[in-house]
Amino acid sequence: MATEKWVYMVTAQTPTNIAVIKYWGKRDEVRILPVNDSISVTLDPDHLCTVTTVSVSPSFDRDRMWLNGKEISLSGSRYQTCLREIRSRGGDVEDKEKGIKIEKKNWEKLNLHIASHNNFPTAAGLASSAAGFACLVFSLAKLMNVDEDSSQLSAIARQGSGSACRSLFGGFVKWTMGSKDDGSDSVAVQLADEKYWDDLVIIIAVVSSREKETSSTSGMRETVETSLLLQHRAKEIVPKRIVQMEEAIKNRDFASFTRLSCTDSNQFHAVCLDTSPPIFYMNDTSHRIISLVEKWNRSEGTPQVAYTFDAGPNAVLIARNRKVAVQLLQGLLYYFPPKSDTDMKSYVVGDNSILKEAG
Ligand code: ADP
Ligand code: DP6
Ligand code: CO
Repeated sequence: MATEKWVYMVTAQTPTNIAVIKYWGKRDEVRILPVNDSISVTLDPDHLCTVTTVSVSPSFDRDRMWLNGKEISLSGSRYQTCLREIRSRGGDVEDKEKGIKIEKKNWEKLNLHIASHNNFPTAAGLASSAAGFACLVFSLAKLMNVDEDSSQLSAIARQGSGSACRSLFGGFVKWTMGSKDDGSDSVAVQLADEKYWDDLVIIIAVVSSREKETSSTSGMRETVETSLLLQHRAKEIVPKRIVQMEEAIKNRDFASFTRLSCTDSNQFHAVCLDTSPPIFYMNDTSHRIISLVEKWNRSEGTPQVAYTFDAGPNAVLIARNRKVAVQLLQGLLYYFPPKSDTDMKSYVVGDNSILKEAG
């Protein structure tokens, strides 16, 4: 480090993921260990993603972060854990072109500036924490030349936000809850890559981009504390559903995939209602979308569209193929014209695909 003037930086892009078998409830709040396994689909990174630039320089006097252009505090334990875990694994870095050489022992001393942008609503139930923390961990690991595989990085991202561990892989991803107290086996694994079932088309109907009143973290804490239904769900229902969902994905069985996704979304929201005080993430428009899709699937005799709603009112709709997706979009535009104040704000359409490596 000859001069104090240099800045070394890395930029990465990471997509969000939407769970089709939901994670809701922790058995360990600090390590972020879930009460059940979950399965998700990673979205196309060009549609809903986080872009994060991490930079390091001897002239930075402390770690700082900006989220969507506004400085945020890094003092929270989730950010601190991710920074500490990546720093401790940092390797030597050399950029001959720029004449920069950073020895691994210096990662503990050097300060970081981090700038992150989500190209979709933050904290509105479209899994910004998933894309956000996955991107943070991934970009830091690149910057510091960390020699760990995606599964090990997923265990670090998990400690930023549980759902983030699944965004380090494309396609269909399972987060295994693990059984160890230290969380080392609570990692994400890829079930099928983004090309495996590429007939599927995902449409996201943004019902509201407002920040939700109850964050996922506090919502699931209240559910764990008060809902008996959650215990039944985590112990009796989800383990069987996970096996069935893995089978449905393996066989590209859209009928089973739809039945399991829709039922699991509805049970997750039932568990929210079973919380005291009850949590309402969906609104009237969400319910109307469910009715529309249910009616359509029944009238066709065989499912055409699966729906799932995260901790917010926005609908994630998975059409069995492009033709169905076009019909679905036409139907949505007819029943929920984006111009009206009370209904939909916008639609995002994307393939079930993802760039394997961000950056
Ligand atoms: P969501 O449904 O969007 O995931 P959550 O309540 O789970 O909502 O999490 C929202 C929180 O995630 C934000 O308040 C912020 O702390 C964190 N977050 C969102 N985007 C990013 C990002 N790009 N980088 C780091 N943290 C982020
Ligand atoms: C409904 O991962 O956002 O989206 O671990 O507390 O950060 P924390 O919560 P978060 O919860 C996601 C809940 C969900 C379902 C899911 O993504 O599996
Ligand atoms: Co979240």
